Amino acid sequence: MTINSELLTALENERRYVARELHDNVAQTVQQLGLHGGICRKLADLGEVEKLLEQLEGLESRIQLASTQIREMISDLRKPLIGRSSGLLEYIEYAIETHKAREGANITYRNRLDEEIPNLSVEQILTLYRIAQESLFNIRKHAKAKNILVDLAADEKNLYLTIADDGIGFDVAAIKERPPDKGGAGVANLQARAHAIGGTLLISKGTTAGGTAILATIPLGDQPWW
Ligand SMILES: Nc1ncnc2c1ncn2[C@@H]1O[C@H](COP(=O)(O)OP(=O)(O)O)[C@@H](O)[C@H]1O
Ligand SMILES: [Mg+2]
Repeated sequence: MTINSELLTALENERRYVARELHDNVAQTVQQLGLHGGICRKLADLGEVEKLLEQLEGLESRIQLASTQIREMISDLRKPLIGRSSGLLEYIEYAIETHKAREGANITYRNRLDEEIPNLSVEQILTLYRIAQESLFNIRKHAKAKNILVDLAADEKNLYLTIADDGIGFDVAAIKERPPDKGGAGVANLQARAHAIGGTLLISKGTTAGGTAILATIPLGDQPWW
């Protein structure tokens, strides 16, 4: 595939991705709100005040859940509000903090860069941020992991971002063959994004505890960065 057709596919994938996230979270919660409202109306009809109050309490927390899900989706779609001159580390740390705030598996962050790498482009930074973000979402959603390792390293040629978990793992080849409406847009996007900036993305079984390891390799250009 040429870069252009790959980017067009990635655009379509992003739309599928948003549609699927809306479907998986918000749409289901809102549908349940409707059903819950119906139950409340019936209880009111029957004059069952005690039970009605109980159900209203449940309804209230469901509305709160819907609101949280929508706000989280909006903030996840946006580029994080980090200062204009911020570097990669702040973005990666932002993805990690978001994960922690939502109470997922225990996360270890290993930054093996001696210092912030200068001259990374906005595209490179955002690509790595999106890769970290989606990988962490996937771990929360699918992996049943206890531990996560996020590792940043670089040599003269490349920057390496690894996100590994000790969860259930998955068959990458089978995911790639999924029909378009059955998921897989997230992983496809990661790959397309890495390719778009000349990098690669490798998904493999985790080495020690099973699980999944995702390695993004991003070339740093011909000029040495140090
Ligand atoms: N870290 C992971 N651990 C276990 N399974 C995973 C992990 N990441 C992705 N998967 C599997 O790969 C599938 C595709 O992921 P993705 O493309 O992000 O789609 P979605 O998250 O919308 O299902 C997931 O449905 C899940 O089965
Ligand atoms: Mg996903």
